[in-house]
Amino acid sequence: MQNQIAVWEFFYEKRDIRDKKIHPAVFPIALPKKCIELFTHRGELIIDPFVGSGTTLLAAKDTGRNALGFDLKDEYVRLSNERVSPQEKNNGTQLAICDDALNVGEYLEDEIVSLCITSPPYANLLNRRRRNKSIRGDLRQDKHYLEVQQYSDDPRDLGTMDVKKYAETLGTIFEGILPLMRQRGHCVINITDYWWKGNRIPAHIYVIEAIQSVGFELRNTIIWDRRNLVNKAGIYGWPSNYITLSTTFEYLLHFWKP
Ligand SMILES: C[S@@+](CC[C@H](N)C(=O)[O-])C[C@H]1O[C@@H](n2cnc3c(N)ncnc32)[C@H](O)[C@@H]1O
Repeated sequence: MQNQIAVWEFFYEKRDIRDKKIHPAVFPIALPKKCIELFTHRGELIIDPFVGSGTTLLAAKDTGRNALGFDLKDEYVRLSNERVSPQEKNNGTQLAICDDALNVGEYLEDEIVSLCITSPPYANLLNRRRRNKSIRGDLRQDKHYLEVQQYSDDPRDLGTMDVKKYAETLGTIFEGILPLMRQRGHCVINITDYWWKGNRIPAHIYVIEAIQSVGFELRNTIIWDRRNLVNKAGIYGWPSNYITLSTTFEYLLHFWKP
């Protein structure tokens, strides 16, 4: 019954990576863990096409599921594999591979994946200098001020693309993933809307359309309530403008293979 509440909250634990220099955008281990426990059984296979620091692999190991992750950046793949080593008997096998998410289909047979849980880059959201506009006064010029926290300049990196090209590419990637999924296999995508050059970009709408267009069915829209993770926020926009803090929530879009 508790899981029927569509607003979820998570806390980071010690093993979570919070240093943006190691990886700029990780989700807490508790997030993939909840999805894994809801949608799969022990011994089943999970994939994360944008595995980053390997959070999904750790959650899979904790719950005894097999998992395969992909990332373009060798450095992240190495980190992911380090975090799940040594491999343990009876806890499944977890592995990260350095490759484009477009090629996931080259590694797997059809109809064997129970869950695809992932947080793709939020289009080109990180591809700009951080101005910390939501932080007050002197605190604004923290150690990340004016930093660009982009994953890479690789043109295959979804984080380099504007939202339309991004959605199109994400669609192609999930078109390749659909045949790998079992019937009614689940897919959870973490995404957020954001501001870009003064315009609100409803990225979750683009993503829903792209994923549906290749044959997945949208099942649930879940809100990840991040208010417990927002700190040192100032008031901005007031009194001439009304701007909500993008960081207060994100979407978890739940699909399945019909
Ligand atoms: C939001 S991060 C994922 C973070 C991950 N959930 C974690 O907790 O560490 C997105 C990742 O996608 C990777 N990426 C971007 N484009 C990619 C592509 N075409 N194929 C595979 N990985 C890609 C980036 O290198 C980045 O690590």
